[in-house]
Amino acid sequence: MRAPREADVPFLHLIMADPEVMRFAATPPHPDYETTREWLLGHLGDRGTNEAFTIEEDGEIIGRIAARSTEIGFVIARSHWGRGLASEACRAFLAHRIEMGETVFEARVDPENLPSLSLLEKLGFSVVDLRVRAFRVGHRWADTLILRLEVNDRTLKGLVPDIEAPGAISAMTNDVGS
Ligand SMILES: CC(C)(COP(=O)(O)OP(=O)(O)OC[C@H]1O[C@@H](n2cnc3c(N)ncnc32)[C@H](O)[C@@H]1OP(=O)(O)O)[C@@H](O)C(=O)NCCC(=O)NCCS
Repeated sequence: MRAPREADVPFLHLIMADPEVMRFAATPPHPDYETTREWLLGHLGDRGTNEAFTIEEDGEIIGRIAARSTEIGFVIARSHWGRGLASEACRAFLAHRIEMGETVFEARVDPENLPSLSLLEKLGFSVVDLRVRAFRVGHRWADTLILRLEVNDRTLKGLVPDIEAPGAISAMTNDVGS
C-alpha cells in the first residue's frame, strides 16, 4: 500500500467504473475518466484523520483503502476478489491507524453486501445500527448497516497479533478496567 498519486487515475477508473464493484456504493459507477480524476485529486492532499492508500500487487494497482475520520472504506478490482487481499489490506491499514492513535473505527455497508460484512465481522466489527433508506443512488433507495470496532487489548490481539498495544489503547483499556 502506498500514498495515491495522479498517475493512478486510469487504473482506479477501471475499478470505479465497474458496475459490479459499485453495486453497493453510495455513488453510481464513475461514468468517465474525469469523474475519477476529480475524485482522486480531491483527496490527494488528505493526511492524518482523512487518509487513503492505493493498493498494489506486483506493481499492478488493484484497489484502494481510505479513512474519513473514523469511517473506513475499501475497494478491490473484481478480477482479484476472493483472494484475501481486502482482508490483508484492512488489517495493515487498521494496524497503521492504531499506531497513529485511532481506537474507534466505523464502516457503512449495504445489508446485501455479504463479502464486506463477512470481512468486517472477522476483523472484529459488530453491527450497531441499521439505517433504512439511508441514501438514494439513481432510482434505488439503499439501506445501510453501521458497523463499529472499538480497539482494546482483546480486539487488538485478534486483529494484529504481532502489534504492541500503543499508549492510547493501554490507556483506554485501563480506563474501562478490563
Ligand atoms: C468487499 C471486497 C473489498 C472484498 O474484497 P476481497 O479481496 O474479495 O475480500 P477477501 O478475499 O479478503 O474476502 C472477504 C470475505 O468475503 C467473502 N466473499 C468473497 N466473495 C464473496 C461472495 N461473492 N459472496 C459471499 N462472500 C464472499 C470471502 O469468502 C471472505 O470471507 P471469509 O473470510 O469468511 O471466507 C470486494 O468484494 C469489493 O471491492 N467489493 C466492492 C466494494 C465494496 O463493497 N467495498 C466495501 C464497502 S465498505
